[in-house]
Amino acid sequence: VIHYKKGIAFLEKVSLQDLAQQFGTPLFVYSQSLLQDRCKEIKEAFASHPTKVCYALKANSNIALLKFIFSMGIGADVVSGGELEKALLAGALPEQIVFSGVGKTVSEIELALKKHIFSFNVESVEEIQLIGTIAKQMSQSVSISLRINPNINVKTNPYIATGLYRTKFGFPESQIAEALQSLRECPELKLKGLSCHLGSQIHQLLPYTQATRRLRKLADELRAQGHAIETLDVGGGFGVDYHGKPSHSLDAYAKAIQKEVKDTDYGLLIEPGRSLVAEAGILVSTVLFTKHNPYKHFVIVDASMTELIRPALYEAFHPIEPCLKRKGKLCKVDIVGPVCETSDFLGTSRLLPPLQRGDLVWIGFCGAYGSSMSSNYNVRPRAAEVLVSSKEVKQVCKREALADLWKRET
Ligand SMILES: Cc1ncc(COP(=O)(O)O)c(C=O)c1O
Repeated sequence: VIHYKKGIAFLEKVSLQDLAQQFGTPLFVYSQSLLQDRCKEIKEAFASHPTKVCYALKANSNIALLKFIFSMGIGADVVSGGELEKALLAGALPEQIVFSGVGKTVSEIELALKKHIFSFNVESVEEIQLIGTIAKQMSQSVSISLRINPNINVKTNPYIATGLYRTKFGFPESQIAEALQSLRECPELKLKGLSCHLGSQIHQLLPYTQATRRLRKLADELRAQGHAIETLDVGGGFGVDYHGKPSHSLDAYAKAIQKEVKDTDYGLLIEPGRSLVAEAGILVSTVLFTKHNPYKHFVIVDASMTELIRPALYEAFHPIEPCLKRKGKLCKVDIVGPVCETSDFLGTSRLLPPLQRGDLVWIGFCGAYGSSMSSNYNVRPRAAEVLVSSKEVKQVCKREALADLWKRET
């Protein structure tokens, strides 16, 4: 992603030092060509079977990125009214939007009905009843898909595994009959699909094979009962290697999934988030201080868990490198932020060349679940974001002003 010329770090044709000087730090920087590559790759990988690709906005919902993604014919997977409004604002086609999530509110359901989205992924009997009631009031028929909890274990952080019974997601197969019963009382709801989402950062193919097989088998049974099932939604979760090592290509995931439906007329739907945007984004940060104690050396930078919570939340690894490579002995350091939490670290025990106050570092793979999970904790303004395309730089999100941080308060 980043290449060095004479020791200076560049993203596409722009030096990170120049960007930091112009826009300040912490700064999210996105590469349009990397984003384009991933979008093309996923579309091509799934091209041999009818597939709706619906980008999961939760990974990064910057409007400029969304516009670009939707311009490539990709749809949207949203989990809130806010994400739905943003998707529409950025040009997503309503017929390419699915609404996921366990806790939809009345106003969110009304909005989605008004906008005529493709489908709701529903997760409980009470949700079926609520959507049924609202659809009746609005005299509208609605496509829904039942989200199945297949109880499939995936090797990932337990906080992002979503396809197990200990999680809040979906219907266990044993409760499908109950869901069908409540659907009978809601004639406005048309059961058109089955869906599941196993979790995030999944590096195995087998769970996708198993899940698709299960969805297909269940869909066959439902068709036999007279339900016009058209679409199998296998969710997102395709893994990204944050160490930069080669991992399964999107093509490999596609093949594993397609194999299970190739002799059928079920359409596929996928909800990739991270795999489209993670690599395309970096976070640039300035070294504020260095210090050491008898145990450790610390590099304190101006980015923190408020810009990138993944290390604190999941002990996630992100590569960290200096923007200017200085010669000198490598030193083992913890790179930490200014927030008053011990969990506010961006990287621990990293071997880095000498760093000093004022130096810049870049943190890799911050395009997904970086800015979208950022907060104002410690009353910190959220970072600016820029989009780079070759030599061109566009600011796509302004740095928050301090006054913005308390303007809602009385
Ligand atoms: C329902 C659903 N779909 C899609 C995604 C996107 O997952 P990922 O970013 O790992 O592709 C998520 C993320 O948690 C999700 O909950």
